[in-house]
Amino acid sequence: MFHTLFERAGSLQVGTVETVSPDRIEVILIGEAPESVALNASVPRPFPRVHDYLLIPVDDSFLVGQVEWIRIDREPFPTSRALQNTGLVELPYPRRQLKLNPLGTLRAGTTDGQYLFQRGADALPSVGAAVMLPDICQLRSVVELGSDQGRITIGTTPLAGHAEVRVDPNRLFGRHLAVLGNTGSGKSCSVAGLIRWSLEQAQSRYRSGRPNARFIVLDPNGEYTQAFSDGGIAQARIFAVDSDNAENALKVPLWFWNSAEWCSVTRASPGIQRPLLIRALREAKAIRTEYADATDEDIPLPFSGKDLEERVEDLAGPKGKFQYQNMEPLITRIRTLLANPRLVAIIDDTEDVTLQQWLQNYIGKNDAEDGCVSVIDLSLVPSEVIQIVTAVIARLIFDAHQRYVNQEKDSLPTVLVMEEAHTFIKRYREDTEYQDAATVCCQAFERIAREGRKFGLGLVLSSQRPHEISPTVLSQCNTFLLHRLSNDRDQEIVRNLVPENLRGLMRELPMLLSQTAILLGWAAELPVLVRMNDLKQEQQPRSEDPEFWKVWTAEKDRTIDWNAIVNVWQGRRQDNEGRIGAVEEDIPF
Ligand SMILES: Nc1ncnc2c1ncn2[C@@H]1O[C@H](COP(=O)(O)OP(=O)(O)O)[C@@H](O)[C@H]1O
Ligand SMILES: [Mg+2]
Repeated sequence: MFHTLFERAGSLQVGTVETVSPDRIEVILIGEAPESVALNASVPRPFPRVHDYLLIPVDDSFLVGQVEWIRIDREPFPTSRALQNTGLVELPYPRRQLKLNPLGTLRAGTTDGQYLFQRGADALPSVGAAVMLPDICQLRSVVELGSDQGRITIGTTPLAGHAEVRVDPNRLFGRHLAVLGNTGSGKSCSVAGLIRWSLEQAQSRYRSGRPNARFIVLDPNGEYTQAFSDGGIAQARIFAVDSDNAENALKVPLWFWNSAEWCSVTRASPGIQRPLLIRALREAKAIRTEYADATDEDIPLPFSGKDLEERVEDLAGPKGKFQYQNMEPLITRIRTLLANPRLVAIIDDTEDVTLQQWLQNYIGKNDAEDGCVSVIDLSLVPSEVIQIVTAVIARLIFDAHQRYVNQEKDSLPTVLVMEEAHTFIKRYREDTEYQDAATVCCQAFERIAREGRKFGLGLVLSSQRPHEISPTVLSQCNTFLLHRLSNDRDQEIVRNLVPENLRGLMRELPMLLSQTAILLGWAAELPVLVRMNDLKQEQQPRSEDPEFWKVWTAEKDRTIDWNAIVNVWQGRRQDNEGRIGAVEEDIPF
């Protein structure tokens, strides 16, 4: 059987098996094996190299091994007495050896020239077995996975003659993806690319043009606006604090916040403050008659900041009494929050925003009428509330998807992207009673990581500091796109994600070029080195690196107008009539 496989594939024998054990196969290359470039496949490719895939026929299939090392042994030549008698001079005779890690099995598919790759092997070869160079079809079968339908091309792999790397979007997004790597290693471009290529390729298949897809990008650095503004299929609706268009101003009304979020942002202490605050929330929500039977403080029902303030003060009882004294710090904190003009712009308690509208805007309209991407630019959200604002957004998106499933009995596939995940999905200590904003935010994402899949919500997180991310969330990620990682602790974390025999490639992590990454996990049967497809300049997220040289040498223009900056800066303190009203102690006035 393997002879036909062998002939059909046009494979080339390059060596023979010399040593076999379950995790290691040593091979001696034959003299005819290529010195540096293999020409048998449709495209010439370098051989032998570390991480190359090689095949060994076993029964009616091939065992696939990956080269871990290559070396030359120099033996005195000739060794046999008979040859010695010929009187030849003893010269070192180079013998090329390599070690293979067995990875899996390649079988012939149903149609000619097609193969199926599976991890694991039923049988190992014996010594003396032939070792062959795979042809391009065989290589592709090793690096690709899943059905041919609905695959997205994300790049090419230098390990398999630059074969395209295609992934199944159900696998890539369905069970959460972590994109990890140092700053500048290409994470943001990869994230922007995955979204864009998914949409472009879905569009090419979709009858009516626009895919019914939803990507929501939580963007703390405000870098994705540029990437999704070219007017094409990936044109995003961008929500930002300072949006020119009032409809796209970032809003997270205060009545969307649940009690845990309120308690954390006001730092309500567990004893007296927390129960009273929760009661005040319940009462504030019941003020509007149409919702009078509100009994749950966590249901998003409209109330105003004033309503809440009054309820809390009422419940605190008479001034000067013990209970009021206990509540006073909380009341002050609520007042300060509600008087912060930068925050008020976001937590807007006017009735302009309804929950329906918010969901339509941020998650999307029926049939993705408004486009498939929303970018939530968090860059101008005041730093003291950015985590809680993010927590509210993430939780609402989760709750909405859960409710969708409960009512529609089907899930709404949505991808939620969180950049700078080490800030928003940060490990926290579980033994403290007081839950700060970082903890509440992390817990919102932990819930998405654990349960999101049931409700169609996939998480993509991106971070340069994997060791600071919640282990719960990281362990729920089933696919990883690993860019260059040079820190030991970070490498340690990702190395433990793959079984021993697949770790060879991970040694490349500190040396990966930008735009190159290792894809591993559920969306890739084997860890595969990918050179991500090119993104045009205008489709790339804005890079965060300051451009000293280009500015110094006037290649890039930078003019200064402090007046304009100061006007905006101080202007935030003024009310509509231009009076200086709101108190914010940190503004230099
Ligand atoms: N797919 C890509 N296409 C084009 N350029 C890329 C790509 N990936 C990375 N780059 C280049 O690498 C630089 C850094 O990438 P970036 O995504 O900003 O890294 P990170 O988010 O990890 O800091 C980009 O400015 C761009 O020049
Ligand atoms: Mg980035």
